[in-house]
Amino acid sequence: MRQPAAAVKATQGVYNADFDWDGFNSDWYCAHNYVSLRDDDTAIMTRVGEFFQQHLKPSTAQRRGLDVGSGANLYPAMSMLPFCEGVELREFSRSNVRWLNAQIERYDAYWDEFWDVYRALPAYQNVSNPREALRKAAKVERMSIFELPEREWDMGTMFFVAESLTYDPREFWRAVECFGRALKPGAPFAAAFMADSRGYKVDKTQFPAVAVDITDVKDCLSVVCEVIDIDLVETKKPLRRGYGGMILATGVALS
Ligand SMILES: C[S@@+](CC[C@H](N)C(=O)[O-])C[C@H]1O[C@@H](n2cnc3c(N)ncnc32)[C@H](O)[C@@H]1O
Repeated sequence: MRQPAAAVKATQGVYNADFDWDGFNSDWYCAHNYVSLRDDDTAIMTRVGEFFQQHLKPSTAQRRGLDVGSGANLYPAMSMLPFCEGVELREFSRSNVRWLNAQIERYDAYWDEFWDVYRALPAYQNVSNPREALRKAAKVERMSIFELPEREWDMGTMFFVAESLTYDPREFWRAVECFGRALKPGAPFAAAFMADSRGYKVDKTQFPAVAVDITDVKDCLSVVCEVIDIDLVETKKPLRRGYGGMILATGVALS
């Protein structure tokens, strides 16, 4: 978590609660990030799907999955469909909660391309109608990551959240811990992080980030999880300036 001294000074003492999360422009964010499928997201989905199908039987019986900080992204929730009766999305921003509820009712056609990536994997072929499966399984609730109950969920995803909700490194650590502790011991998870990001704009609004690298992510995840795999996902076409790739970690929650 190394940052230039001037950047550290300007953002010191600026926390999650200091940002207008309800003003997060979900449609802008989705259009910028997800309306066409990127090579790095494709690589992430393939690795996440492979990891989950290795660790879980494709039966949904009574399993509950958690996606925290879902934003305007459906692909983490989709990754849990073959394995969960309930896919529970916990998101703090009211605008994102509205967007998620509308998309879950009947998601837009561009998400079909995302499902096609999962569908190449055997466990996902058991889901014949993913649109209907998501509508039935997914429940969205407005909640802060810092308020998640402990030991509730059987599997979990957290994509670009813990490092992208604050400028404060301790708050980043706390967010990762809250995610890990929300999972039952042994529950498999996938978590993605923007490497070296110092913040990002959504439409005209600036949101924060803590600049992390693979070692930082591994260190804080290891407090609550056994990290099985962690790697930088490469792309020739970065999403925007000001970050150093995407870090993907998979593993299981510790007892
Ligand atoms: C960079 S976005 C990532 C969104 C999405 N997961 C994705 O993969 O694109 C960060 C998300 O964290 C959410 N967030 C910010 N503070 C939060 C908090 N305290 N608890 C839960 N989510 C929060 C934001 O509303 C936003 O949806």
